[in-house]
Amino acid sequence: MVMTPAVGEDEQTSMAAGVPGDMDAAAIEREALDHVWIHQATWAEVVEQQGLRVFERAEGARLWDIHGNEYLDGISGLWVVNAGHGRAEIAEAMAEQAKKLAYVSAEAFTTAPAAELAHTLADLMPSDLSRFYFCSGGSEAVETAVKIAKQVQAMRGFPRRYKVIARRGSYHGMTHGAMSLTATREEAYFGPFMYGVSHVPHPNRYRSDFGLEGEEADIMAATYVGQEIQHQGPETVACVIGEPISSSAGVHVPSPKYWQLLREICDTHGVLLIVDEVINGFGRTGKMFATEHFGFVPDIMTIAKGLTSGYAPMGAAVVRPAIFETFKEQGTVSMGHLLTFGGHPVSAAAALKNLQIFKDERLVEQAAEKGIYLKAQLEELRNHPTVGDVRGEGLLCAIELVKSKSKKLNWGERSPFVKRVNQLVTERGLITRTRNFMHFAPPLVTERAQIDRMIAIADEALTIAENEHRSEIED
Ligand SMILES: Cc1ncc(COP(=O)(O)O)c(C=O)c1O
Repeated sequence: MVMTPAVGEDEQTSMAAGVPGDMDAAAIEREALDHVWIHQATWAEVVEQQGLRVFERAEGARLWDIHGNEYLDGISGLWVVNAGHGRAEIAEAMAEQAKKLAYVSAEAFTTAPAAELAHTLADLMPSDLSRFYFCSGGSEAVETAVKIAKQVQAMRGFPRRYKVIARRGSYHGMTHGAMSLTATREEAYFGPFMYGVSHVPHPNRYRSDFGLEGEEADIMAATYVGQEIQHQGPETVACVIGEPISSSAGVHVPSPKYWQLLREICDTHGVLLIVDEVINGFGRTGKMFATEHFGFVPDIMTIAKGLTSGYAPMGAAVVRPAIFETFKEQGTVSMGHLLTFGGHPVSAAAALKNLQIFKDERLVEQAAEKGIYLKAQLEELRNHPTVGDVRGEGLLCAIELVKSKSKKLNWGERSPFVKRVNQLVTERGLITRTRNFMHFAPPLVTERAQIDRMIAIADEALTIAENEHRSEIED
């Protein structure tokens, strides 16, 4: 039975305060528990951990909760805070912009910071990706990208091309359209999802759907997309979407041949290729964009998260001139899309300052160097009977947790083992995300000693949990 966490008499009285600045720690926690809807935690989980962790301040790769407990941020918030916490210069740039101009409608106008940001980004983008439809986050970027693909296909004379091919197990966001691509267990609540979406296998060298290994498994995964396009009828398919390196789906790094072949297949069939760089982008994988690892150019790219390092909400769908050309040729047609906060000038100011920091501090190069170090340290965890695989590129890494190495059997996303590991790492001061995979994606400014500490905490937590669950572990 789920019980409400106990709150002492004193704590109950202190919650009377109405002004946030007036509330003590107990009152803040109580208010959070009573009024904040935590996006993904179940109520049982909140109760099990005796309430909510409420954070107050942060610096670099460190966070402090309202009791002054210190944590290492092993996942950059949620793969977001690439430039690190506590960047006063970003806050100041935002304040300056808010004082000057906080908002104009995105319907028919734009602002100087949005224009400057588009210019700066165009220089950083792979190849000729250079036109930006700004929005407020990753899900919106994905919605925008898919809608652009569908509308452009229709405007080019292919109104029946409405289908989207996504990869099973990938995550592209939680608004209704993005969620349809994600194909989650939530179908029971929200189905039927967007019509015309089909799912294909992921490139996955650890557990290939085709029983193949290495590059062969990747090539088969790309070939399968071609077969799916044929199966659906090429004249009905608008686009294919995928992350260059999967994130939530388990950090699978495919061969460049996977992406190059997928590019060829899409071109052959007149299908647009969307890459989702919402997590991969902005230095996370040791390149500014992960697409650069693979030697291909998508038609549309989605970006968000690291664009502002989380100092303000912002995303974009980015297209090549050939895509926007359709709107130039048919100059009386606009995109059937409008987002009130698209290109918000305060977010644009945050992004501009964030990108300046990237340049000044060589954050992308730092991520590449530190990524090699992180991966080598993670390899040491393979000795654990429950670490089935270690994967990653740059500072986008994960270990896969299994109860049987030979059978490659996961424990289950919310299994007691996984929950216990999560609890143990958090108690020891490491914030990460532990489900079938334990993610390691710290801010790009994380110091080596902090990486060492993250690994040591994971090592200790796994040892304790393995001892407690010894009888369930198979060879
Ligand atoms: C690859 C990918 N795309 C899209 C999204 C959705 O982004 P947001 O949560 O900002 O809507 C996420 C979120 O984690 C993501 O990982």
